[in-house]
Amino acid sequence: ADEPLVLGIETSCDETGVGIVRGTTLLADAVASSVDDHARFGGVVPEIASRAHLEAMVPTVERALKEAGIAASDLDGIAVTAGPGLAGALLVGVSAAKAYAYALGKPLYGVNHLASHICVDQLEHGPLPEPTMALLVSGGHSSLLLAPDITCDVRPLGATIDDAAGEAFDKVARVLGLGFPGGPVIDRYARDGDPEAIRFPRGLTGPRDAPLDFSFSGLKTAVARWVEARRRAGEPVPVADVAASFQEAVTDVLTRKAVRACKEQGVDHLMIGGGVAANSRLRALAQERCDAAGITLRVPRPKLCTDNGAMVAALGAEMVARNRPASGLDLPADSSLPV
Ligand code: KG4
Ligand code: ZN
Repeated sequence: ADEPLVLGIETSCDETGVGIVRGTTLLADAVASSVDDHARFGGVVPEIASRAHLEAMVPTVERALKEAGIAASDLDGIAVTAGPGLAGALLVGVSAAKAYAYALGKPLYGVNHLASHICVDQLEHGPLPEPTMALLVSGGHSSLLLAPDITCDVRPLGATIDDAAGEAFDKVARVLGLGFPGGPVIDRYARDGDPEAIRFPRGLTGPRDAPLDFSFSGLKTAVARWVEARRRAGEPVPVADVAASFQEAVTDVLTRKAVRACKEQGVDHLMIGGGVAANSRLRALAQERCDAAGITLRVPRPKLCTDNGAMVAALGAEMVARNRPASGLDLPADSSLPV
């Protein structure tokens, strides 16, 4: 086949991801997560993540090659997340990618983590339209991005001014004593709750607020205050209702602003990516509002929304296909790499 065969390595946070794609076809998606090692700390501990990447790297690469049924010598390139992310964690992936690229004599492609969260949708729904509008919501980011060219031109239209959406889920879960990571647990509890039970604040939705920016720290504080007041009064905390009402506030703002961005830019489709895109209410509400606005919604399956290596491979393959220049072996890991 003529489509580029690319292996991608992702180590920006706590998942060691190695994926292999041929063009827009997914061949392997191996992920080793250290999430359980961080649970008792209530958040990702960078040193633990780096060490776990180091231990998981070679076995995960081997697992991916086996899963794809290919030999490393057949690859057309090695792609790796160069940033943004945890510095030490990124460094493990970048070093490994350089070692493989050098040893195999293959070109190396450093890619942006946010752009690869968008590009992964090609593995699910085929080539992305240009420009692509993306709502990127994860533990580290909440952004609206316009991508005229996913390999080299991704423009931020708005972003969170404080906590990321996933961070808000994690913090609220902690307040409710539900453990880490909070997103999936809150999603589960919210199914049995009433989203209208408590009216939590919608950040930055006033007439004078930046229309495409987000703020979730006030919401998190409002939830914590509400729960504290209940506890002080000796009353039981209706966990499902709090979870559902909090989730409603987050997803209401995210979807409202994403649809607004599409309308402002005249884009008729929306891609949602990042760990929070796995949220069932976000998916349902986005679908509802996109339908009402005549916007086509593209959301990859949950496993492709959370951090993985396939998304890195997907963007790497796009770079090969478009003859983008390869990175040198001096490619730096950049914890604050802009899109
Ligand atoms: O993209 P990701 O795997 O890693 C980062 O780059 O941050 O996103 C992880 C975040 C966590 O904050 C987690 O709580 C959140 O995604 N998350 C969810 C759900 N699944 C994961 N948030 C809401 N609902 C979910 N179902
Ligand atoms: Zn991510």
